[in-house]
Amino acid sequence: TDVAGKTIFITGGAQGIGLGMARAFALAGADLALADIDPDALEAAREELSSTARTETFLLDVRDRDAFARAADESEERLGPAAVVCNNAGVLGTAAVTDPSPAVWDHVVGIDLGGVFNGVGVFLPRMVARGGPGHIVNTASTAGIRGGALFEYSAAKAAVIALSESLHADAELERLGIRTTVLCPGGVRTRIIDNGIAAMPEGVPERQRTRIDGERVRTVIEQCGLAPEAVGEQVLAAVQEDRFYVFTDRSAVADLRERASAMLAAMPEESEHDRRLAEARRRLGR
Ligand code: NAI
Repeated sequence: TDVAGKTIFITGGAQGIGLGMARAFALAGADLALADIDPDALEAAREELSSTARTETFLLDVRDRDAFARAADESEERLGPAAVVCNNAGVLGTAAVTDPSPAVWDHVVGIDLGGVFNGVGVFLPRMVARGGPGHIVNTASTAGIRGGALFEYSAAKAAVIALSESLHADAELERLGIRTTVLCPGGVRTRIIDNGIAAMPEGVPERQRTRIDGERVRTVIEQCGLAPEAVGEQVLAAVQEDRFYVFTDRSAVADLRERASAMLAAMPEESEHDRRLAEARRRLGR
């Protein structure tokens, strides 16, 4: 997808990885529509980016479907149709697996998965109605490759990968030139830990609110994390070159191998049932 002169709509675009994407797309000559729940960060991003790109900002909670549709309408009025939509807004948070919290689940899954669905639900029908082309970029995480201590976050991110794979596999979208990219970052140097703690809903007890805060997570993100600008450049290149999976580092390799080999090892012996299924699939298509 060519981006010069095109409009790029980015959720969570006010800071961190979203801002890194905005900077990269701005340098490539795109116009920016930045949507975020944080008004101060949004204003700072607008001030910074306005000198390089036409920049419009939208105060938006990605969980709010009506507000999302209004932001899309306004963005389209001001900047024309969005050629690329980056569903990137997200929060990091988790309660312990042994101490599950409906409030934390609703919060993390509502933003990290629900927000991505809402972005797809609002923008994809517009791209289809125009007859394409377009590009959807969904931010998942290497945490979505395999479940673990990040529980709700991993569940949401795994679902973002599956949702993106469904778009990528769709023949009608393929025909219209509507492409998908799923971004699976490893550690990226942003304020996601402190932002995640601050964003936890009221009433969530301290032990669950700050469960994410540990030496391991802080080290991966804050000491060893990639610069958000570098990730922005990787996303820009993936959009320009129509690439689907984007991994920012190789940290998921072991998890991916172990998961795939454990699943393959759990497969039953081939039976008559499998042969009938395979035959039916050949006849009907996947
Ligand atoms: P960040 O905290 O720096 O930026 C997230 C942005 O999303 C913030 O500007 C925040 O205000 C906004 N946001 C949060 N909730 C929102 C809502 N309900 N509606 C609209 N905007 C909202 O975090 P970062 O690191 O830039 O994260 C961006 C994405 O990358 C997230 O989806 C995150 O899960 C993912 N990610 C980050 C990694 C990292 O190491 N930083 C690793 C893997 C994935």
